[in-house]
Amino acid sequence: MDSVRSISQDSGLPRLEAHMLWQHVLNVSRARLIAHDTDALAPEAVASFRALQARRLSGEPMAYILGYKEFMGREFEVGPGTLIPRPDTELLVETALDYLQDRLAPLVLDMGTGTGAIAISVALGAPNAKVTATDVSADALAVAQRNAQKLGAEVEFLSGSWYDALVGHSGFDLIVSNPPYIAAGDPHLEQGDVRFEPMLALSDGVDGLSALRTIVQGAGARLKPGAALFLEHGWDQALAVRQLLQQAGFARVASLKDLAGIERVTGGIYNQ
Ligand SMILES: C[S@@+](CC[C@H](N)C(=O)[O-])C[C@H]1O[C@@H](n2cnc3c(N)ncnc32)[C@H](O)[C@@H]1O
Repeated sequence: MDSVRSISQDSGLPRLEAHMLWQHVLNVSRARLIAHDTDALAPEAVASFRALQARRLSGEPMAYILGYKEFMGREFEVGPGTLIPRPDTELLVETALDYLQDRLAPLVLDMGTGTGAIAISVALGAPNAKVTATDVSADALAVAQRNAQKLGAEVEFLSGSWYDALVGHSGFDLIVSNPPYIAAGDPHLEQGDVRFEPMLALSDGVDGLSALRTIVQGAGARLKPGAALFLEHGWDQALAVRQLLQQAGFARVASLKDLAGIERVTGGIYNQ
């Protein structure tokens, strides 16, 4: 007799992943799943699980199979056109929320919003802020718009490449971005979950710094004097990003470490 327990044991998947797929198929809580894990299963449920199991065994990320990923304690829809939000990026959101704490009605810009994870988390964490978010990918913007609606966040979404999206928008108090920062040909692009994510979201196709450079160099014209720019970047890019910010007229330039002790976010205050 087929049961959740017997099929999970032979699935080739870690127990937690098998359970997450079963919860998705049967639409039940984990507690209910475990309490009934020896019940007989309908053949249709077994077939549905087998289809998801095959996708997972081929390496497809759990988030794409389930259709969502948790970020800052909320569920964000993800799809093949979006990066899967990473826990590392919570540092950028927390840094932004700290910065916004005592500001009355700040204007905030998130560039390359993907699922909208950063923009929506900032909008919900700083209700006084007016948040604008951009992306060049129409697929990503459609997902971000649905996430904003589902999570009850007010975010203005604009389409276009970096600052080209911002016709008539400037005077921001804060710009944040987690742009594509993996260099072309980096072996990480061939490994794990990343193989399934859109190349546009991962790599600038050049040296890994070109999107960061574009964002830093264009920020001054869109920021108020005394406003801030915070950027997420790769594990070995903090020094280069600090130099870009200093060359572009930013002061109080500093990098912040993620939970693994890696410099992950760099920012500064625009002085000129
Ligand atoms: C690393 S992903 C970050 C997604 C999201 N902000 C997050 O942290 O989960 C980079 C995003 O930048 C977008 N992007 C790539 N090139 C762009 C461009 N030229 N202009 C605007 N957005 C771009 C991608 O579509 C992708 O959504």
